[in-house]
Amino acid sequence: MENVISYITQNKNRYINELKEYLSIPSISTLSSHKKDMKRCADYVVKQLKNAGLKKVKTYPTAGNPLVYGEWLGAPGKPTVLIYGHYDVQPVDPIKLWKTPPFEATIKGDQIYARGANDNKGQNFVHIKSVEAYFKTIGKLPVNVKFLIEGEEEIGSKNLEKFLKEQKSLLKCDAVMISDTSLYAEGIPTISYGLRGLCYMEIELTGPNRDLHSGSFGGSVANPINELAKLISKLVDDKGKITIPNFYKDVQKMPKKERELIKSLKFSDKAFAKELDVKELKGEEGYNTLERLWARPTLDCNGIIGGFTEEGAKTVLPSKASAKISMRLVPDQDPEIIAKEFAKYVKSIAPKSVKINVKALHGGYPVVVSLDDKAIRAAAVATSKAFGKKTVFTREGGSIPIVVDFKKQLNAPVILMGLGLDTDDIHSPNEHFSLKNFERGIYSSAYFFNEFAK
Ligand code: BES
Ligand code: ZN
Repeated sequence: MENVISYITQNKNRYINELKEYLSIPSISTLSSHKKDMKRCADYVVKQLKNAGLKKVKTYPTAGNPLVYGEWLGAPGKPTVLIYGHYDVQPVDPIKLWKTPPFEATIKGDQIYARGANDNKGQNFVHIKSVEAYFKTIGKLPVNVKFLIEGEEEIGSKNLEKFLKEQKSLLKCDAVMISDTSLYAEGIPTISYGLRGLCYMEIELTGPNRDLHSGSFGGSVANPINELAKLISKLVDDKGKITIPNFYKDVQKMPKKERELIKSLKFSDKAFAKELDVKELKGEEGYNTLERLWARPTLDCNGIIGGFTEEGAKTVLPSKASAKISMRLVPDQDPEIIAKEFAKYVKSIAPKSVKINVKALHGGYPVVVSLDDKAIRAAAVATSKAFGKKTVFTREGGSIPIVVDFKKQLNAPVILMGLGLDTDDIHSPNEHFSLKNFERGIYSSAYFFNEFAK
């Protein structure tokens, strides 16, 4: 074990340079213009897994972006860990707000800046590098490992869901390891046990059959942007409650024990607001910030499109307006049922003066995993060793759609061993990842294999 750890320390700089190469590939899954980059990025992961010493490394084509798989099963009688991550990233817009180019990783101080630095290339690379360290020093791993790195997490993992159903025996394992969440705070080793789900919708309103002069026509027909704004504002009331009928029907109440656990975590609303430069926080009445983030559903408009948005003024009454709306869900809400309720409700409140079209884009089920498991305890010991502190247990506000399927299809415990920070600006300009946490992550992964083998 000592050899493994010192190999990691000695090779840290090379590891960072390789991470930079990985980050230079613009693997944006939601934009079809990046199709070739997806393939190139999958091939880069293949190369890395082969170099690390894994066997049967290959890409599996899907109806969308390729999946990357590799394994090493040379520890008979020992448990098998499936390591999951994603090589796809979010779009970079608004590009103007980036201080350094998103696909030329730049190191400033102890941070590496690039799209994907945290989410998820930096975090999945950690496990590849810890495996490499084992093979380059003691020539073997204390457990069996399987890697599954996909290219569609940011768009809902639909093709992986299908693959999982078809390839249960290939992916059979005793635990799933995922590093795609956050530390509770800088320096605090963290294992998460819950993720919110997601239901992502698009509404389009159409008014007159073409754009009109806002003087000649304004006041005589509905303006779809005005109507859309009114409609969106009706979806959440003043108390922060979502108004869609049956929306809360399946929401599980947080057990008292868990509410108390959350209360025991140190959290400052004031510091949280200050870091975001807002005067006060806002959310559903009756819940504190961590409860709102981890255990309550939400509805947010993510983008709104319509009319004239360029420099200067143009007097126009637009024909169309649309909005992208996401709802974060908690157990036992079902994204498919929520999508139907949403569509029914917005159609019922839209005025007759506009035509409405509602589309479901993608989603994912919420999940809470059991903490009472050997694999999770091994991970908590490992992160504690790597960080030199006691591990805390948290839930997360974000979503990883495939986790529910891992639980269902593979019947294996899922370990959410996050290494990022909520301040790393994932999905936002200037995404970054702490190189210190990158290094601690590689140690955590290495210690985990050792602990889990016990
Ligand atoms: N790494 C995130 C999930 C995450 C974010 C966990 C923040 C914890 C804190 C993941 O890559 C992600 O962004 N997932 C999407 C899924 C969606 C597009 C189906 C999300 O949560 O928006
Ligand atoms: Zn993401």
